Amino acid sequence: MKKFKIITIDGPASSGKTTVAKMIAQKFKVPLLESGALYRFVTYLLIKSEKSIQTYMENEDLLINFLKEAFQKVKIELTSEGTFIYWNGKLIKDELRKEEVENMVSQVSANKKVREFLTEIMRKLGKEDSLITEGRDMGSFVFPYADIKIFLTANEEIRAQRRLKEKMGKVIYKDKNLYEKVFNNIKFRDKLDSQREVAPLIIPEGAYIIDTSNLTPEEVLNEILKIIK
Ligand code: DC
Repeated sequence: MKKFKIITIDGPASSGKTTVAKMIAQKFKVPLLESGALYRFVTYLLIKSEKSIQTYMENEDLLINFLKEAFQKVKIELTSEGTFIYWNGKLIKDELRKEEVENMVSQVSANKKVREFLTEIMRKLGKEDSLITEGRDMGSFVFPYADIKIFLTANEEIRAQRRLKEKMGKVIYKDKNLYEKVFNNIKFRDKLDSQREVAPLIIPEGAYIIDTSNLTPEEVLNEILKIIK
């Protein structure tokens, strides 16, 4: 028996959100909405399109029309394993982890129209079933009425190390100073995510804060299970 409708987990990059959100989703057999995947997907679409990202960022109508048209061919599937985005029937997954997407996603996700567009989609997804969701503004903005809000943090060095470990096979960084590059990318994205005007990364009101720097995923899960109880 599920005793909650929505649990939100927010926090900066590599604070452990996805890993732990997935563990909870599997434990309670509820769908998992990974909101970052949607922001990555929009970034991927914009990169693939004929016009430059800058052109879309400077022209709201063009951007909205592009998104509306593109999303007619999009299917979003939420399972307890995660969020699966199909475009023209093809699963878009590894593409979302490419370096060019990593580099542009903070800029794209700072755009007000992109956020409005995706927020509406996410709220619709959250209407039906129970949901675990993770991101930057899920408890503060998208689902402020969530039953339980969690905010995960961890220090920058640890997050960079985690990112590196997680991404080694996924993101193809071309030069040798991998750690430094990942560390700088994390710092850069933290800054953009926290300082943007629309729905910045903040600790949601009423959130439980967990510092995961020295905790294993299982320990974080146990903390959250205690909160759920
Ligand atoms: O969690 P992630 O690394 O997959 O997120 C990718 C980017 O998407 C991240 O740089 C910030 C943005 N994002 C956001 O702005 N709001 C969210 N709710 C989730 C992600």
